[in-house]
Amino acid sequence: MAGGIVVAWSSRTGNTRRVAEAVASALPGAELLPADEVDAVPGDCAFFCGFWVDKGEVSEDALRLLRRTRGVPVFLFGTMGGNPGDERSRAYLAKKLAGLRGEGIRIASLRMFQGKIDPAVVERMNRTRPMTEERRARLEEAARHPDEADFEETRAWARECLEGMKDNRSA
Ligand SMILES: Cc1cc2nc3c(=O)[nH]c(=O)nc-3n(C[C@H](O)[C@H](O)[C@H](O)COP(=O)(O)O)c2cc1C
Repeated sequence: MAGGIVVAWSSRTGNTRRVAEAVASALPGAELLPADEVDAVPGDCAFFCGFWVDKGEVSEDALRLLRRTRGVPVFLFGTMGGNPGDERSRAYLAKKLAGLRGEGIRIASLRMFQGKIDPAVVERMNRTRPMTEERRARLEEAARHPDEADFEETRAWARECLEGMKDNRSA
């Protein structure tokens, strides 16, 4: 890839960083670095960016970086406490994606994973939210992620993104 491969991540408790490491491990020569250490995103690079969902928002440092991509296509990935496949999360993600695209950020692909939630945050939430069976199950499921299957999926996705980019260029 002419401008190289950049894998940037934003992560508070390590879930997204580990997914970013899986992305980079699938792409030889990829440069892996925290979102706030990316100086500029070269126009001809393959750019991957990871975020975590922070109170319904794209984590701040990732969002700042996305806003500096200036039309460079972004392979976006992220982690969240909720199950990204359930109806509520899908609606939420579709809305977020539309919002980012509406700002002119070129999201070429989005892949989300579930991620364990900081126990201190869970404890705080427990004070205001009732612990239902459903909620308990969701928290227990989150606590198991990201897992090896997620990393495998991540690596396959990263390779697909890169291949797709090369195909587009040679077409
Ligand atoms: C302060 C805070 C707010 C969060 N808000 C949400 C949220 O709105 N929706 C959600 O699904 N998960 C939420 N989570 C869970 C995180 O998105 C999830 O644990 C994520 O994997 C954390 O990524 P990291 O380990 O890379 O920091 C929140 C976690 C924290 C600590």
